[in-house]
Amino acid sequence: MNARRPDQPVVLVLFGATGDLSARLVVPALYNLFLAEQLPEQFTLLGVGRHEMEAHALADKLHEGVANYSRSGKPAREDWDRFSERIDYLHMNLKDKDAFNDLRHRLQGPDASAKDKTEYVFYMATPPSLFAPIAEGLGEAGLARDRKGSRIVVEKPLGHDLDSFRQINSALTHHFEESQIFRIDHFLGKETVQNIMAMRFANPIFEPIWNRRYVDHVAITVAETLGVEHRAPYYEKSGALRDMVQNHLLQLLCLVAMEPPVAYDADDIRDRKMDVMHALRPIDRDEVSELAARGQYAPGWIEGTAVSGYRQEPGVADQSNTETYAALKLQVDNWRWQDVPFYLRTGKRMAAAVSEISIRFRDVPHRAFPASVGLNAQPVRLVIQIQPHEGIVLKFMAKEPGSQLRLRPVDMRFSYAEAFNVPTPDAYETLLWDVMIGDATLFMRSDQVEAAWRLLMPVLDVWSGNPAADFPNYRSGTWGPEAAEALVARDGRNWLTPTLPSDRPGDES
Ligand code: BG6
Repeated sequence: MNARRPDQPVVLVLFGATGDLSARLVVPALYNLFLAEQLPEQFTLLGVGRHEMEAHALADKLHEGVANYSRSGKPAREDWDRFSERIDYLHMNLKDKDAFNDLRHRLQGPDASAKDKTEYVFYMATPPSLFAPIAEGLGEAGLARDRKGSRIVVEKPLGHDLDSFRQINSALTHHFEESQIFRIDHFLGKETVQNIMAMRFANPIFEPIWNRRYVDHVAITVAETLGVEHRAPYYEKSGALRDMVQNHLLQLLCLVAMEPPVAYDADDIRDRKMDVMHALRPIDRDEVSELAARGQYAPGWIEGTAVSGYRQEPGVADQSNTETYAALKLQVDNWRWQDVPFYLRTGKRMAAAVSEISIRFRDVPHRAFPASVGLNAQPVRLVIQIQPHEGIVLKFMAKEPGSQLRLRPVDMRFSYAEAFNVPTPDAYETLLWDVMIGDATLFMRSDQVEAAWRLLMPVLDVWSGNPAADFPNYRSGTWGPEAAEALVARDGRNWLTPTLPSDRPGDES
């Protein structure tokens, strides 16, 4: 993210302004951009909601959200006063078509043709059931017509399956062009995720070994210690595969597996990612039990505290079949990756909150050292740490000091915090700034989302048609169900223990 202000005046119309997403993520990010002087000089946040309220009441509500969730903490009085001057509110009944004409009137005044260079960002922080009616209302009121100056932002869940995604998408694309549609996958805004491309394509040393000749397999882990929290109404219908794999984990896989783009350009990069999606071997329904594993957390312990099982969480059905853990084995059928498995796993209530990508290199072709020196102890691997520790670790073998020949795994580390010593912007700050300058590089294109749904449909169908007989099948505070161990064990492999920030070199199971 460059530290400059977008040039044009921007009005960000926030549908669902009084909701959770606005309070927790969108407005704290806007406020931090404001503090960093990265909002346009002329910026208005026009909150839209179904409640009647004054702008100052919305501002008070948003203040609470910023105080609770912003990385910059409770706002200083003067800063907040200056920011809240930019907050406005419009009560809209979305069922009323005239409401969108009122919105246009509010934005552009009575004579729309006299409009200046103001750009409009329509941000849908609403339930997905409103995406289509809002897009339609905006389109019919003529607010989507300016292809360069108006954009729409949507977030997952973008559908529940392939068909429902297509329905939502066709409502969006009926009124907006693809270049105007910004589909958020907040993982793409994380610094460590953006750095995957920098690491791979700005350094000549990785590309030569980034292929089937040197890589044994790739493992992507996104583990959380949190449970479902207050989100049961959504999560019960979603589950881990839809919630995390369909979007975040597949995006990570694409960044690891893609070919170098010709230019750092939204379409070029997304074309290269799309090549990966094309190359992913479809999963046959008959292979689901072999290529996918699911789990649901039972009661257990997280950081010394007893936690309940998923089925005991508020709002969750007693016999819920929703998976809180999913693992997949995927193959990228192309020249670079043929026969290199990509193992993906994600779960709630796991042993540690850690997200990382592990590139496991092949063993040496010939072992010149006697077995007694411990050469077999650890494979060489490169670990891209996404969170909580942000960095890159190369794990390799070294000779222990001493007269005896003994080898031991050691770490070579790069840490963001140490190298740059500046606060990392939240993903939403990066993404909102990109929306304002109209850069779609870090957003999901329609074809990618569709391909991701297509890939996962057989798994979703088989899982929903065959309720898991063994749920709950992993204790909270562990690394997931046995079925996931079996998934990699069938290939003679195991999940490599994630590198935790507290690890000392060589500390590994
Ligand atoms: C969201 C999921 O997309 O990502 C949540 O809906 C999950 O279930 C969250 O907890 C994880 O994101 P982060 O940025 O907290 O790692």
